[in-house]
Amino acid sequence: AAAEKGGHSSFMEKEILEQPTAIASTLLGRTDAEGALVLDELRISEEQLRAVTKIVIVACGTAFYSGMTAKYAIEHWTRIPCEVELAHEFRYRDPVVDQHTLVVSISQSGETMDTLMAVKHARELGALTISICNTHGATIPRESDAVLYTHAGPEIAVASTKAFTAQITACYVLGLYLAQLRGGSYAEEAQQVMRELHEIPSKVETLLAGMDRVREIARFMADTRSVLFLGRHVGYPIALEGALKLKEIAYIHAEGFAAGELKHGPIALIEPGQPVFIVVPGPDTPHGLHGKVVSNIQEIRARGARTLVIAEEGDEDVVPFADEVIRVPQAPPLLEPLLTIVPLQVFAAELASAKGLDVDQPRNLAKSVTVE
Ligand code: G6P
Repeated sequence: AAAEKGGHSSFMEKEILEQPTAIASTLLGRTDAEGALVLDELRISEEQLRAVTKIVIVACGTAFYSGMTAKYAIEHWTRIPCEVELAHEFRYRDPVVDQHTLVVSISQSGETMDTLMAVKHARELGALTISICNTHGATIPRESDAVLYTHAGPEIAVASTKAFTAQITACYVLGLYLAQLRGGSYAEEAQQVMRELHEIPSKVETLLAGMDRVREIARFMADTRSVLFLGRHVGYPIALEGALKLKEIAYIHAEGFAAGELKHGPIALIEPGQPVFIVVPGPDTPHGLHGKVVSNIQEIRARGARTLVIAEEGDEDVVPFADEVIRVPQAPPLLEPLLTIVPLQVFAAELASAKGLDVDQPRNLAKSVTVE
C-alpha cells in the first residue's frame, strides 16, 4: 500500500496533488484543431440537445457540490434554467420533468444507489439523461442515455478531491458545448473559456506548491471544535464542500454558509476566537460581490472571528481584516472554484492527520454507497 501511495502519507494527499492532471485529462480531446468543442461521445443527437428547455443536475455528497458550482456557469453560458438537487430528494418529490429536460447525474463511482434511482426515475418520466462519471462501465453510465467521463483516474480515499475538480471541469465542458450548439452570444465565448480552462492545471500546480502555511495552520488547529466557512456566488458551494471535507475526515463540526446569509442568522454564531474560512470572489466578479464579501469579513472580524481568508493573488482589500491570507492564482470568476477548493482540501487532510486519524478511511463512511 505504501508504494501505491507513491510516497505520500495517504491516498487523499496523493489525489489532492494529482488534480492538475485530473483536470487536464478531463479537458483532453474535447476540442478540435480550431478550438471548437467536440463531444462525439455523447450519443444524444444535436437536435435533441438543442430542444432542451431545462437542466436538472442530480448527485450526492461532494458530487452534489460540484453540480451546485456548475449551475452558475451552465445557466450563464447556456441561458437554460438549471436546477441542482440531491438525488434522494429529487426521486421522491414528484419533480417536473419531460422529454425536453436534460437530467445530468454526477457520480465518481457511478454506483451510488440514490443517484442511480434518480436517473431511472428521470428516464421513466421521459427525460434525456447524461451521466458524468469517473468509473468506466459503471452502472449509472450504463443506465443513462449518454456519458461524459471525468478522467481523474481511480480515486481511493473516501473523501473525494480530484474527482470533484474533474466533475466541475466536465460540467463546464458540457455547458460550453451546449452553448456552442445553441448559438447565441455565449457560443463565441465558449472557445475563449476553453482556453482559460486549459490554463487551470498549471495554476493548480503553482497553488499546490505553496501550501506550507495552510498545513501549518491546520496543525495548529488540531484541537479546534468548530470551523465555519463562508462563500458567495461560486464560492458558496466551495464553502459547503470545504466544510464537508472537514466533517468527513477530521470529525470537526463544520458548516458552510452563503456569505450574504450571514446577517440573517449565522452571524449569531460568531464569538471571539471562532475560526472562519472565507472564500473571497475575485475582484472581477460582477455586481460588486468582492466588496460585499470583504465587508462580511470586516463584520465578523469586529466580533472576534479568526478570519482565514482565501483570496486572489494581488487582492489587497482583504488584508486589513484577515488573520491569515491564503493566496490563489488569478482566474476568471467562474473558474475560481477549481483553485479555491484546493487549500480547503489540504487543510482538512493535514488537520485529520495531525489528529492521528485515518485520513483515507474515515469512520462510518463508505467510498461508494450502494444502498438507499
Ligand atoms: C459517498 C462518499 C462521498 C461521495 C458520495 C457520492 O457518500 O463518501 O465522498 O461524495 O458518496 O459518491 P459518488 O460516487 O456518487 O460521487
